[in-house]
Amino acid sequence: MINQKKDTPTINRVDLLIRSQRINTDRVIFRLEVKMNEYAVRTEHLSCHFGAIRAVDDLSLEIPKGIVFGFLGPNGSGKTTTIRLLLGLLEPTQGTACVLGFNTRTHSEQIRNSSGALLEHSGLYERLSAHDNLEFYGRIYRMDRSKLGARIKELLTHFGLWERRHEHVGNWSRGMKQKVAIARTLLHQPSLVFLDEPTAGLDPVAAASLRDDIAALVQSGDVTVFLNTHNLPEAEKLCGQVGVIRNGKLLSVGTLEQLRMEENPARVVITGSGFTQEILDQLKTQAIAKAVIQHNSHLEITLSNPANISRLLGFLISSGAQVDEVRKDKASLEDVFLKMMEEESNGA
Ligand SMILES: Nc1ncnc2c1ncn2[C@@H]1O[C@H](COP(=O)(O)OP(=O)(O)O)[C@@H](O)[C@H]1O
Ligand SMILES: [Mg+2]
Repeated sequence: MINQKKDTPTINRVDLLIRSQRINTDRVIFRLEVKMNEYAVRTEHLSCHFGAIRAVDDLSLEIPKGIVFGFLGPNGSGKTTTIRLLLGLLEPTQGTACVLGFNTRTHSEQIRNSSGALLEHSGLYERLSAHDNLEFYGRIYRMDRSKLGARIKELLTHFGLWERRHEHVGNWSRGMKQKVAIARTLLHQPSLVFLDEPTAGLDPVAAASLRDDIAALVQSGDVTVFLNTHNLPEAEKLCGQVGVIRNGKLLSVGTLEQLRMEENPARVVITGSGFTQEILDQLKTQAIAKAVIQHNSHLEITLSNPANISRLLGFLISSGAQVDEVRKDKASLEDVFLKMMEEESNGA
């Protein structure tokens, strides 16, 4: 049975206030709509345990609409389980999840109708052509025949497969099958698509081509993508935001830029000349820098404190060095990711 009020305590409270006529109804309804529609996915303390295994552990996450959200983590970290929870295919042990405004415990059918998902299996029938596979799924979604035909053409054209639409997919490469499988998730124009490691097992060329297609898709329509991946370049190419998960726990969430800065707020690169060994030694003895690496024309400095930048520059210039350029150094995403995994396995 559907129990909307139980699931949405915020509405419950506002409802009471409205009934007691203490607030203006129009404004409240408007504000509620904005709040509920803001996020494609929202979880609070979401957990899923299989016996002693905490596949997903206390996950609280808000994913705005219209972005590609990358869920990044090594094998066994809980990515697929999270998607299954968000689709309402698994019951959470604890916590709640709202997807497109629907509670996963009570409205999973609505969630599955308004989203698309590519999980481990492509769901394609090998003995059917690409066109017939899509037509079959379109009928399952009860799509109008003429609209379905146009949509199939649009999607297969997008993926560069329209000319080959009558071939059996069983003879196709894995990369081509994945494209049809993604087209299948998009048939009914869902506003949210879950892709679980879509490029896993593809050769580099096929993976790159599929990433280009996904990138173009996101630019062309207002669809939110929840993308599971353990591939960093993929996340870098596609994702407006990422969450890093390990052993079921969310370690960090934000834009890739934020993740890099978060891990490395104190690294600067200084280009110039006249950096003598004496100057470099003094940077450490005066506790301005923790580490200094000298390259031909630049220094890589890890400051003792990110606020030390003006002390650093003042010292270099007063010591007779010439400073031509100063910039904050960004860690590579790989550095950041590996550091997070290390910290977690050290119990940090
Ligand atoms: N149905 C299940 N029964 C028992 N353990 C499971 C089940 N599904 C997943 N797990 C375990 O939960 C953990 C997370 O798995 P999964 O979500 O598939 O990770 P990922 O997709 O990041 O590789 C793993 O330790 C996995 O073995
Ligand atoms: Mg998985």
